[in-house]
Amino acid sequence: MKILVTGGAGYIGSHSCIELAASNHQVVILDNLCNASLVSIARAEKLAGTRFPLHRIDLRDGEAVHRLFEREHFDAVVHFAALKAVGESVEKPLDYYDNNVVGSIHLLQAMRAHGCKRLVFSSSATVYGNPDSVPVNEDAPLRVTNPYGRTKLVTEDMIRDACAADPQFSAILLRYFNPVGAHPSGEIGEDPRGIPNNLMPYICQVAVGRRDHLGVFGGDWPTVDGTGVRDYIHVVDLARAHADAINALEYARHPATTLNLGTGQGISVLQLVRAFEQARVRAFEQASGRKVPCEIVARRAGDVAAVYADPRRAKEVIGWQAARGVDEMCVDAWRWQSRNPEGYGAA
Ligand code: NAD
Ligand code: UFG
Repeated sequence: MKILVTGGAGYIGSHSCIELAASNHQVVILDNLCNASLVSIARAEKLAGTRFPLHRIDLRDGEAVHRLFEREHFDAVVHFAALKAVGESVEKPLDYYDNNVVGSIHLLQAMRAHGCKRLVFSSSATVYGNPDSVPVNEDAPLRVTNPYGRTKLVTEDMIRDACAADPQFSAILLRYFNPVGAHPSGEIGEDPRGIPNNLMPYICQVAVGRRDHLGVFGGDWPTVDGTGVRDYIHVVDLARAHADAINALEYARHPATTLNLGTGQGISVLQLVRAFEQARVRAFEQASGRKVPCEIVARRAGDVAAVYADPRRAKEVIGWQAARGVDEMCVDAWRWQSRNPEGYGAA
């Protein structure tokens, strides 16, 4: 199929373009490059051995989105493009609604106007908020706690309504847990701007010497060692789920099917730090003086103790399950970081 990938220059999008191409789909990228680099596309093209034409369009520009659908016929859309920083969304909520919700409305309108009937959407485990129990399945109550999460839930609802209104329209909504790691080539990976919000990029920047220690947000959570527990998932496994979802949509209707994407394993902050240190020694023989210094600091506002997925439905519906463990996540994250200490910036 010919697939439009919005946000295809970004972290998860660039890995997913490669997996979609490996499934013999033709990929076209729409991205305004507000949080991405052209270098990621060039490298992903090289890894995939094919071209990923870029349309540098902002989804908030409804006319431009419409014109693209007029010029090209797409069989399906994978929709990654969004702003994703929780803290920033609290400070600038309207920017988040504008970018993520208005952008998605324009996309859905263009799809409807041009008969494009298949959609895979990037949602987030953030829609579960602080769950009553773990592992979390897709029927757990939805309790978003920040504007970013609300933009995801509103967009999910819009897609559910679009499916209800048009029996031909089909969508799979993917709720990611904590994507980490990088392509095993070390050529593409996560390149956060400024101070990383997320744990794995922070660990990597400490390890590469860009920051001197990791602040661990709370040491008194009711968890195995008092630090927060999450479900980290290798970005290549996550990317493959998008190809599996697209392939499922090619032959069957999915009326807004929602799937968790995680490993089902909860890992604490300190367990991830130790796994990272050990993986680095094992895979790169960097034996001494390469600890990641940690300091327990205050809890971060809005954090929760433990969130991890029940990922069984993804296996039942699209035949997907995570294959890569925490060791591989750490090895691949470090290969990317050590080969690209300044991310794409220095490329
Ligand atoms: P990213 O920032 O690397 O990628 C998003 C891409 O979308 C970027 O290339 C950016 O330039 C583009 N973009 C943003 N707004 C746009 C607009 N208005 N028009 C055109 N392009 C636009 O982020 P990512 O980590 O790859 O995340 C991809 C998707 O997955 C997002 O929807 C995000 O909310 C969701 N998600 C991410 C995580 C995570 O931890 N990384 C977790 C859950 C869900
Ligand atoms: N943490 C630290 N120090 C840091 C960064 C994080 O101790 O410098 C801890 C957090 O307290 C948490 C764990 O590491 O216990 C993971 O934190 P992340 O910020 O990496 O991930 P979260 O699960 O808190 O949030 C992420 C995304 C959200 C998304 C959510 C669910 O940032 O956007 O996953 O998908 F909504």
